[in-house]
Amino acid sequence: MEQIVALSKRRGFIFPSSEIYGGINGFFDYGPLGAELKKNIRDSWWNDMVRRRDDVAALESSIIMNRRVWEASGHVSGFTDPLVDCKESKQRFRADQLFFAPVVVDGKTIGVVSALESERTEEELQEKAEQLKRKNAVQGNLEPVEPRDMTEATPEEISQIPSPATGKPGSLTEPRNFNMMFETHAGALRDESSVVYLRPETAQGMFVNFKSVIDTGRYKIPFGIAQIGKAFRNEITPRNFIFRSREFEQMELQYFISEDDDWEKWFRYWIDWSHDWLVSIGLPAELLSEYDHPKEKLAFYSKGTTDIMFKYPFGVQELWGIAARGDYDLTQHQKESGVSMLYFDEAAKKRYVPHVIEPSVGVDRILLAVLCSAYREEEVDGEKRTVLKLHPRIAPVKAGIFPLVKNKPELVEMAENLYRKLKQRHNVFWDTSGAIGRRYRRMDEIGTPWGITVDFDSLENNTFTVRDRDTMEQVRMTEDEILALLDEQATC
Ligand code: GAP
Repeated sequence: MEQIVALSKRRGFIFPSSEIYGGINGFFDYGPLGAELKKNIRDSWWNDMVRRRDDVAALESSIIMNRRVWEASGHVSGFTDPLVDCKESKQRFRADQLFFAPVVVDGKTIGVVSALESERTEEELQEKAEQLKRKNAVQGNLEPVEPRDMTEATPEEISQIPSPATGKPGSLTEPRNFNMMFETHAGALRDESSVVYLRPETAQGMFVNFKSVIDTGRYKIPFGIAQIGKAFRNEITPRNFIFRSREFEQMELQYFISEDDDWEKWFRYWIDWSHDWLVSIGLPAELLSEYDHPKEKLAFYSKGTTDIMFKYPFGVQELWGIAARGDYDLTQHQKESGVSMLYFDEAAKKRYVPHVIEPSVGVDRILLAVLCSAYREEEVDGEKRTVLKLHPRIAPVKAGIFPLVKNKPELVEMAENLYRKLKQRHNVFWDTSGAIGRRYRRMDEIGTPWGITVDFDSLENNTFTVRDRDTMEQVRMTEDEILALLDEQATC
């Protein structure tokens, strides 16, 4: 992760937000290359999800909506994380990410150890248990730790759990619910009546516009509404770089199906679609897995939720959630707004509130997965090369254009003509400085799939040297062939 964070900063992918003022926890800015990479991810999803399909309509709803939307959806009362305060250090932790275990020697509890959730929470707790046993000079057989998280702790146990901030027990509060929505005010009055929220998901925009979309577009179920947009959550512990931040971007689809349709078929369809789409932008299938939420942990209305997980350097974590939400959302809005959400199914000759399958993913999480899986350090001819093996579809720069030498005007002019032509259709980069090998290396580091050199042979036969980033092999191509290559492989 350190290398990826360093490369992101050094090459202009991602910067901490408002860095010159010391930054702000949980917020990030995307630099020139990051903004391009993110846009390519968004555009690829948009094209595949909306433009290349007949059954998905586009939507761009507002970030701030009538607060009754969030009351009806359950976010005002229930969009909470369990929060624990350390009274001494004033730090805050998510109770479900703070693990503890009694330290038991020969059947007798000699204390409690704690650790924050990580890839090695259990090992860390075991090590701390061994340290405590040594420190207290207790003889006997130390039992393996049995970690639980703080949402399961009794008040007596809470008083014994050491704070992760100070290492001492007695300063942690009982978990309390903390609403993650950012609150602000609309209009000049700053009182209870003007409270509004920054949306914590884009999904509600699709539900509250369901009627308008269906009435104006004459769509037939099954069909979906898709949206890309910012979402905001006041996360207690933003962490792992852009993985969990307070401002992020979602790409969501609400796919409406008949109440009589086989929801499991559509659920599986969208899990597979999401998986295949991730592979199509270059994520290796072997780093992806599926996690089915246990039935007993699902919300009462939910028929099933499966997460597509990605193996990040900090552990296997949720990348994309696919949820079968029944008719809960539309029914809630129908009840609270008084506006009918009934759909008339001409084929079945009946009216019903449609059911929903929702694939929902964070753009920032995809971008991080892409950077993590593409990053390589290799040795080439005794030299280290850092390379981002980005799929050409999403690579921020598609090709570097290099005149071999700077002091031959015909050659530079020819290169510039090629550059200008390619730039009409693709994001290509002009570079004349340094030896050609160094120019290739600079492009490798930012994931540019091809380096195109205009050399003396180009003046003779109108062909150019095209070097492949991954194989480093070089072939000669004409301008038309280069354009065809970029059109075919580097289009979102
Ligand atoms: N409408 C359903 C919904 O919002 P979610 O599981 O809370 O479901 C969906 O979020 C996706 O949004 C997640 O799978 C993840 O990719 C992304 N996401 C959620 N919280 C995030 C955060 N704090 N930072 C970055 N991405 C986040």
